[in-house]
Amino acid sequence: MAWRIEAIDTETAPEHELRMLYDLHLEIHDELWSEDPREPFELWEKEIRETPSWRRTLRWAVWSDDRARALALATLSMGFTETNRHLADFDVTVRREVRRRGAGLQLLAPVVAAAEAEGRTLLEAGAPTDTPGTAFLDAVGAETKIVERKSRMVVADVDRAMLELWVERAAERAAGYSLLAWDGPVPEEYLERFVDLQMVMNTAPRDDREVDDWVHTPQRQRENEERYARKGETWWTLVARHDATDGLVGYTEFVFPPHDPTVVWQEATVVDPTHRDRGIGRWLKAVNCLRLMDERPDVRYVDTWNAFSNAPMLGINNAMGFQVVKSYSDYQIPTERLAAALKERRGS
Ligand SMILES: CC(C)(COP(=O)(O)OP(=O)(O)OC[C@H]1O[C@@H](n2cnc3c(N)ncnc32)[C@H](O)[C@@H]1OP(=O)(O)O)[C@@H](O)C(=O)NCCC(=O)NCCS
Repeated sequence: MAWRIEAIDTETAPEHELRMLYDLHLEIHDELWSEDPREPFELWEKEIRETPSWRRTLRWAVWSDDRARALALATLSMGFTETNRHLADFDVTVRREVRRRGAGLQLLAPVVAAAEAEGRTLLEAGAPTDTPGTAFLDAVGAETKIVERKSRMVVADVDRAMLELWVERAAERAAGYSLLAWDGPVPEEYLERFVDLQMVMNTAPRDDREVDDWVHTPQRQRENEERYARKGETWWTLVARHDATDGLVGYTEFVFPPHDPTVVWQEATVVDPTHRDRGIGRWLKAVNCLRLMDERPDVRYVDTWNAFSNAPMLGINNAMGFQVVKSYSDYQIPTERLAAALKERRGS
C-alpha cells in the first residue's frame, strides 16, 4: 500500500502535532529503551523544537486517516561544520500495529531525495542489535560499521577501596599532573584548550566507520552549554593538567539528566595519546566517581556507551563494575546504493 507522507517542521508545528509525535516516541522508547525513564513531554519538546545552529534536521510523518495519531516518522539530520559534509544521519520509526507494510521503506524515499539534494553521499543509521531496526537496515543493504555497548554501573556495588587505590597510585604514576574541576560551563580561561582537548575523542576507535575527524569550536561549545542549561541539565567536568606545560591532557564528564535524579550519564573520558599509560584515565574516573558517592547519594546508576573494540576504556569500566545492558549496531550506506535498493524494492 502507498502511505501518505508529509513533511513536518517541528520547530514551527503546533503543539497537538508534537504531542502525537511524542506518543509515537514513547511507544518506541518503551520498546527499545525500557531501562531508561521516559522523558517528560516538555523536555522532549525542547530537544525536537531546537536544532543546534550548525545542524539541519528534516522530518516526514505518516498520520492516521483521522489525523489523531502519528503512525510513523523519518528524520534526516545534517551537520554544517568544517568536516563531514558528505555525511547525514537518518532514523525511521514505525508503530508496531502498521509494521511490515512498507511504511519504513517508503519513508526512506524523501530521506534519500533530501540527502541527494544536499550532496550527502553517505548515510548513517543505527539500532539495537538483532531487532527489527537492524533487520530493516540489513534489508536495504546498509552495512554494520561499529558495534557499541550501553552499560550500567550500580553505585552501591562500587568497590570504594579500589577507587581510592587508583587515586593513591596516581600520586606516583602521574607525578607532574594535577586535576582541575568545574561544574557547568567551562571557565573562559580554559575554553580554547578544553575545546581542543575534546577533539582528542577523535582518537577513539571507529572500526570500519568512514568518517572524518569532527571539529569543535569555542562558539559551538558555548551554544551547547546554553542548550543543555535550557534543558535543565547539570554537569561536572574533571580535567588533568600537565603542570610543566600547563596543557590540558585528559578529561571526564558526568551529566545529570533533569528528569531522573537516580541516574548520571558518564559522557566522554579521554587522555591525550602522548600522556597515556600513566593511570590518568583511572585517576579521573575514580575521583569523579568518589565525588558522586559523597555528594549525590540519590544517584543509583551510572550509564555509559563504548565501542566493543575500545579495550583500554573497557578495561577501566569493567573493573569499576559497568555491565552490558545492550548492544547497538551503527550502519552506513552510500546514498546512491540506498536509492538503488529502494528502486529495486519498488520494482519487485
Ligand atoms: C525498523 C522499522 C522502522 C521498520 O518499519 P516497517 O514499516 O516495518 O518496515 P517495512 O515494512 O518497510 O520493511 C522493509 C523490509 O525490512 C525488513 N524488515 C523490517 N522489519 C523486519 C523484521 N522485524 N524482521 C525481519 N525483517 C524485517 C524486511 O525485509 C522488510 O521487507 P518485507 O516486509 O517485504 O520482508 C520498524 O521496525 C521500527 O520502527 N523499529 C524501531 C525503530 C528502529 O529501530 N529504527 C531503526 C531503523 S533506522
